[in-house]
Amino acid sequence: MAANQQSDWVARSLRSVWHPCTQMQHHETVPLIPVSHGRGAWLYDQDGKRYLDAISSWWVNLFGHANPRINAALKDQLDRLEHAMLAGFTHEPVIELSEQLAARTGHVLGHCFYASDGASAVEIALKMSFHAWRNAGHGDKQEFVCLKGGYHGETIGALAVTDVALFRDAYGPLLRQAHVVASPDARLAVDGESALDVARRAAADLESLLQQRAGNIAAVIVEPLVQCATGMAMHDPAYLAAVRALCDRYNVHLIFDEIAVGCGRTGTFFACEQAELDGQPVWPDFLCLSKGISGGYLPLSLVMTRDDIYQAFYSADVTRGFLHSHSYTGNPLACRAALATLAIFEEDDVLVRNRERAAKLSAALAPLATHDKVQHFRQRGMIWAFDAVPDDAAAAATFSRRFFSTALEHELLLRPIGRSVYLMPPYVLDDDEIDGLATRTQAVFEKVIAE
Ligand SMILES: Cc1ncc(COP(=O)(O)O)c(C=O)c1O
Repeated sequence: MAANQQSDWVARSLRSVWHPCTQMQHHETVPLIPVSHGRGAWLYDQDGKRYLDAISSWWVNLFGHANPRINAALKDQLDRLEHAMLAGFTHEPVIELSEQLAARTGHVLGHCFYASDGASAVEIALKMSFHAWRNAGHGDKQEFVCLKGGYHGETIGALAVTDVALFRDAYGPLLRQAHVVASPDARLAVDGESALDVARRAAADLESLLQQRAGNIAAVIVEPLVQCATGMAMHDPAYLAAVRALCDRYNVHLIFDEIAVGCGRTGTFFACEQAELDGQPVWPDFLCLSKGISGGYLPLSLVMTRDDIYQAFYSADVTRGFLHSHSYTGNPLACRAALATLAIFEEDDVLVRNRERAAKLSAALAPLATHDKVQHFRQRGMIWAFDAVPDDAAAAATFSRRFFSTALEHELLLRPIGRSVYLMPPYVLDDDEIDGLATRTQAVFEKVIAE
C-alpha cells in the first residue's frame, strides 16, 4: 500500500476518530499506527512494517491474530446465526459455552450472565450482589470494598471500585465512594517481609474494615494474583484464600475480576485456581471474565455465579429477577469464538506449553532481571513486569511514552504503565520470537534509560 495512503489514514483518523484512553494532543508527537492486517503474534502496518504484539492488543489476544481455527469457527457461525436476542431465546454457542465454563469450576459457579465489555461484567456483578442481598432481606448491604490500586473498568459503577487516580479523579464527584483497603502487592514488603507477610497484612486491613462495616457491605472485589492496570502488581495466592475466609466469616460476597488474569494468563485457566483454603480450591461468589475468553476477536464478557445467588433471584415476582440486559448479550459469534478458544486450550495442551514458553522467556530476560536500573522484576504465568529506575523525575515522567516510541522502532508493541514495563504476549510465540522479544526489550530499555 502506498506511503501516502498510510499517512492519509492517520490524518483521517485524527480528524474523525476519538481514540480511547488517549490525550489526543499527544498524537502531535506520538505516532498513530495504521494497522492493515495481523498474523500470529504480529501486526502489520500499511507499509508492511511489523510489530510484535507483546501486550496482546490490550491483553485480549491469546492465540495470535487471524488464527485459522477461530476464523473457521466464525465463518461457520456466520452462515448459521449472527445474532438473536437472548431474552426469551437461546442458542447452541451460548449453552455450550456456559456448560463448559461451569465445568471448569467443578460446577461451583453454575450460571453465566453475559455482556460485552469487561466493565459491563463488573457492573453486573456489583448490581447482582446488592440485589441478591436485598432479595434475601439485607437491603442495608449497599457498600463495596476494593483494593488500593485496583482497576475494574471505566463505566461509573466500575470506576467507583477502581483506585487508579489517573482514570478516576476527574469523575470523582459522580462516583459512589467505595472502601479502599490495602493492596497485597508484594513490592510493598518492608524489613525482610515476604510476599506472604504482605498478603497477611493486607488481609488484616480488610478484616478490620469488615469488623466495623460488614452489615453494610455487599461485596469485596479483587483482581486475583495480578493487579494489572496499576502496573502488574503481583501478590501471593494466600491473599485470595484469606479474603475468601473473611468474606465467609463476615457474610460478604466475594467478586473475582478475572477479566485480565483469566483464560490461562497467570498459568492456570482461572487465576483463583492457584489459591487453596482448607485443601479446597478458592472460588468467589461472582467471577467476571472477558478479554481473552473470545480469543481477542469479539467483545464478550460474562459473570459466573454460584447457585445460591441464582436462587436468590428465582421467584414468581418479576421484580426479584435480575432485569439487566445489553442488546448483544450472549452474541452467538462471540460465543462461538470463545468455544473455538476453549477448544485450542484442550487440543494444544496450552497451559503445559505455556509453562515451557514462560521458562524460556524468563531465561532470555535474565539480563534485565539483574540490571542495575531495574527494580522488582516479576513474573506470573504469561505476564512479566519490572520497574525502571530513571535518573530523575523528569525522565520518569516521560519514560512510558519514550519507551513506547522506541519499542516501535524495534518492531515491538509495548506500552509501559508509568515506569512499569510489562510483557503480556499471545500464547503462540516460537523460540525465535521469544529470543527476539527479550533481546529487543533489553535494547529498547538500554536506549531509553540512558537518554
Ligand atoms: C481487571 C480488569 N477489569 C475490568 C476491565 C475493563 O474491561 P473493558 O476494558 O473490556 O471494559 C479491565 C480492562 O483492562 C481489567 O483489566
